Amino acid sequence: MKDLQVNVLSHKFIRVILVQADTMLSAPTFSNVLRSKTQSQIITPLEERTFPSTPRYPPMSDNHLKAGILALELDETLYNLNNEQKDFLKRTARIDNDEELRKHVLEVQADAYKVFPYPCIRYFTFAKLAITHLPNYQQILKLPQARPGAILLDMGCCFGSDLRKAVFDGWPAKDTVALLISEQLGLWEHGHKLYRTTPAMFPAGFVAGDAFNEDITSLQEPCYSLPPENRPESLTSLKSLIPLRGHVDAIHTSLFFHLFDEEKQLELARRLAALLSPMPSSVIFGGHYARAEKGLKTEILGNGKEHIVFWHSPESWKDMWSGNVFREGTVRVDVVWSEEESHFTELQQSGKLYYLKWCVTRL
Ligand SMILES: C[S@@+](CC[C@H](N)C(=O)[O-])C[C@H]1O[C@@H](n2cnc3c(N)ncnc32)[C@H](O)[C@@H]1O
Repeated sequence: MKDLQVNVLSHKFIRVILVQADTMLSAPTFSNVLRSKTQSQIITPLEERTFPSTPRYPPMSDNHLKAGILALELDETLYNLNNEQKDFLKRTARIDNDEELRKHVLEVQADAYKVFPYPCIRYFTFAKLAITHLPNYQQILKLPQARPGAILLDMGCCFGSDLRKAVFDGWPAKDTVALLISEQLGLWEHGHKLYRTTPAMFPAGFVAGDAFNEDITSLQEPCYSLPPENRPESLTSLKSLIPLRGHVDAIHTSLFFHLFDEEKQLELARRLAALLSPMPSSVIFGGHYARAEKGLKTEILGNGKEHIVFWHSPESWKDMWSGNVFREGTVRVDVVWSEEESHFTELQQSGKLYYLKWCVTRL
């Protein structure tokens, strides 16, 4: 291991450990660092929750019960967008003042939550612009200048806020595409409501389908040379990501991998790798939750129920990409991980959970 830096950031709850990009952490050093940290709140997989039985968190409706999802009542006091997020929304949705914005966001949230009672809706994650906090974001934004027509794909896009932010920051909308499982394509439509756009106003490509479906993505080797087929001219007519094999220059995916077990995460990584361009500096990047030790863990939900979840560790995450998904020496894996105060405060504490920000770069 070459370098391990511990940075104390201004936010009192966040400590970030920067792991040297192309080296592996040795276990003892890693554990020592972890032992020095304080307890954080646990966050359970976002789509996998069940109703709490306590009166404090009453179930919302039969539909939610049928969906088997932990749906808590909406709570306006959780509205906590920061200035960057508010400014972005005001400029893109053409809203003048904070109060009007708050009302608009709450309205769209309530509308979406009736159908999609997920924590990411309840806690406004859909408007939080996770992409801007990824360490390589500014660098990645330069790709379209260096490679006109460079494609940005957002996997598991929810409202599409991250994609919209990248477009706002300069990525041509016509060269972007998002994917969402068909059953939840209404989330993408809520993105149009939130940002007050139509598909013509925001001409990003959108594919509705399961990331694991062979008609949508393919489980093939990554491309190590340029693909023989040309890049599709228009992304708006795509019904599948398969024509993009070897043509995607940047793939963003946040809060997505940790929804799946270890085997599925590896499969997902391989499906994304097959889409990535072999050109140097092409990237797959994102953020999600992890633990210090890789493995299955029984997490305790707010209602006291147990739930088994697979977590990657920063080391196992790097191992998966370099030498497993991609041939060793063909990618660099950057990992930044931090301990954060969770806003999912209704969940019981059950050990430390870390937010992993990562970027896999073709060399
Ligand atoms: C927790 S949300 C994360 C949303 C967004 N990326 C973010 O950072 O806020 C997970 C997203 O993945 C989508 N999703 C879940 N399973 C999927 C699958 N098998 N294929 C495609 N999308 C899926 C859901 O519709 C949801 O939008």
